[in-house]
Amino acid sequence: MLKNVKVPLSGGRNYDIWIGPVRELKEKLVPFTASTFITVADTNTAGAAAAMGLPEPVILPPGESTKDFAAAAMLCGEAARRGLDRHSVFFAAGGGVIGDLAGFAAAIYMRGVRVVQIPTSLLAMVDSSVGGKTAVDIPEGKNLAGAFHQPSAVLIAPEFLQTLPIRERIGGLAEVVKYGFALDQDFFAFLEDHAGDLTAPSPDPELFRTIIRRSCEIKAEIVAADEHESGIRKYLNYGHTYGHAVELISNFTLSHGEAVAIGMTAAARLAVRCGRISPQLAERQETLLRNIGLPCRIPKTMPSKRILEIMARDKKNESGAVTMVLPSGLGRVECVKFRDHAGLEAVAEELR
Ligand code: GLY
Repeated sequence: MLKNVKVPLSGGRNYDIWIGPVRELKEKLVPFTASTFITVADTNTAGAAAAMGLPEPVILPPGESTKDFAAAAMLCGEAARRGLDRHSVFFAAGGGVIGDLAGFAAAIYMRGVRVVQIPTSLLAMVDSSVGGKTAVDIPEGKNLAGAFHQPSAVLIAPEFLQTLPIRERIGGLAEVVKYGFALDQDFFAFLEDHAGDLTAPSPDPELFRTIIRRSCEIKAEIVAADEHESGIRKYLNYGHTYGHAVELISNFTLSHGEAVAIGMTAAARLAVRCGRISPQLAERQETLLRNIGLPCRIPKTMPSKRILEIMARDKKNESGAVTMVLPSGLGRVECVKFRDHAGLEAVAEELR
């Protein structure tokens, strides 16, 4: 049976997140396939597009290097050649890279057309497909060019997780732990109770429906309250400040989720150092991350100074101060500005 999470937005832009089996989700596509459309997938997710009944996708190579201006321009060109107009639809069938890229192309094609997100990775299901952040990478950094462009619907088929490589599923779980530790203590305790099941070779459909739904509910509530990230949406960046830095320095050999797990560990250590949480609480987060199979240490080869340089360019920063999202208890976070970077560097140094 389909489950529904609503994302309430101003100006009649509300949309639905539908979670359920492919055969039922296909009915939700009908209002969109009545218009002209283009489907974007990668070589790993073209099968998911076909399963949803979406013919002739534009198929891109998988991986972060696909997410650039050239690919967005190519998609706009293809949309024009296929005769798409302002009433047309882009379908993004894939993980975070395809969702961000196709979402960005939809945001700029004819100054904005509808996009429907069909996430195929756990990370995209619980995070990137919801909330309208679209972007491409530029040589100076990840997601540095983009637009807020909300989807018209998000269709999530947890059965796509059955064929997702386990490392990718584990990566997605980092964002799920983030929701619990930063924003919902009961959800965190639920994840602790089910840590072993989350990494079982074959994902339990009921368990994953539950965690995807709760993650989407939390995200929908935050996005509805602060669509353009001027306030509480920053909380969703918990773990991402150190995380983005180590992801970039690793040249993306660390997955986004792995980097976020390291980033959450560093942020919790920093919060302990500032007297905001107890060492026991930081340890509790680290234990769950480890039990799920996520890394909690910065690779020894990464210089702390380089990590700090990248953190200093973070999009949340203001007037030279690094803005960190730090826990102040289980299920609670706050933004804290650091003008003096010594403590940030000390944590990067210690977490080896
Ligand atoms: N991934 C964080 C956000 O969408 O705000």
